[in-house]
Amino acid sequence: MYTQAMDTMGKEPADGQKPVRSADEMRLQERFDARIDAGDFIEAKDWMPEHYRKTLLRQISQHAHSEIVGMLPEGNWITRAPTLKRKAILLAKVQDEGGHGLYLYAAAETLGSSRDQMLDALHTGKAKYSSIFNYPTLTWADIGTIGWLVDGAAIMNQVPICRCSYAPYARAMIRICREESFHQRQGYGSLLTMMQHGTPEQKAMVQDAVDRWWWPSIMMFGPPDDQSPNSAQSMRWGIKRVSNDELRQKFVDAAVEQAKVLGVTLPDPELKWNDERQAHDFGAIDWSEFWRVIGGDGPCNRERLGARVKAWEDGAWVREAALAHAGKHQTMKEAA
Ligand code: ACO
Repeated sequence: MYTQAMDTMGKEPADGQKPVRSADEMRLQERFDARIDAGDFIEAKDWMPEHYRKTLLRQISQHAHSEIVGMLPEGNWITRAPTLKRKAILLAKVQDEGGHGLYLYAAAETLGSSRDQMLDALHTGKAKYSSIFNYPTLTWADIGTIGWLVDGAAIMNQVPICRCSYAPYARAMIRICREESFHQRQGYGSLLTMMQHGTPEQKAMVQDAVDRWWWPSIMMFGPPDDQSPNSAQSMRWGIKRVSNDELRQKFVDAAVEQAKVLGVTLPDPELKWNDERQAHDFGAIDWSEFWRVIGGDGPCNRERLGARVKAWEDGAWVREAALAHAGKHQTMKEAA
């Protein structure tokens, strides 16, 4: 029930087994390919190949689920924020994540799936959400570290999606990225305060949080390019503009400098500048941990999904009341 490892959207048959296409369909396909090659944006009402639609639906719905599941680890700290200012900031940030989920569900709905269908896939464990949200938030320093590393990784991955070939997704991402930048800065700012003005215990708390979040954050970009089944096609279609490994490298390079300013150590003894590559080398990622987490067996998978299902069930009366209200108004309008 808790697996995130199922593909709910299906895939086009492998080459050689493709369904026979009519001349009309082939013309549409050629026009679509030419538009993609020319860097055009595809709108919801434009013709698109079924596999393109399904790939987008898979990615956008996974992204939407990640935003709303991502509210849970941080929402957990709203009542325990150390000051009123930090509480207000965290409250706003968690609300933003809920908003991102709504923009993304709306973008995914333009591809022909209802929100109920998408949420059902999440609640029954058929749909994925980001691996990162299956880790626990043990101390207040985790909140700053999520802002710095998790939102930092999210921005690195999501800025190129503002140029995604599917226009409704690209448009949603522009606003999301602006807000994510604020999230990253507030996290970094919170850690900087603790590192510059905190007690030795608070500084140790920051280092401990960085030690725990570093590896899961660099896993967020997905498997290495040569083990990423979707990358080649998504890159060809302009859904993905930059590969998993390239984004991970850019993130590591940026984080190393930020860690120096902060005064924390990144927990990787093999992390060092490579002059030839003009980039940092880093240690081997434990991909077995990544696959275990997205397979449903991370530290918090059951808790996260349980909380989402409970929220859905507890909210049933609100949905029913809203539907009854809308129905009453419709009847009154028809009678008038
Ligand atoms: N967490 C969970 N599943 C993942 C992750 C991850 N961090 N990375 C990859 N996967 C899954 C993929 O969904 C895919 O599964 P599927 O084919 O069964 O659906 C499988 O692992 C193999 O990965 P890829 O072939 O590399 O998949 P894809 O091309 O979709 O790339 C990526 C994965 C980079 C996450 C892409 O989908 C993406 O850019 N999504 C949009 C951004 C996003 O969802 N961010 C969510 C977290 S950020 C936040 O919410 C704050």
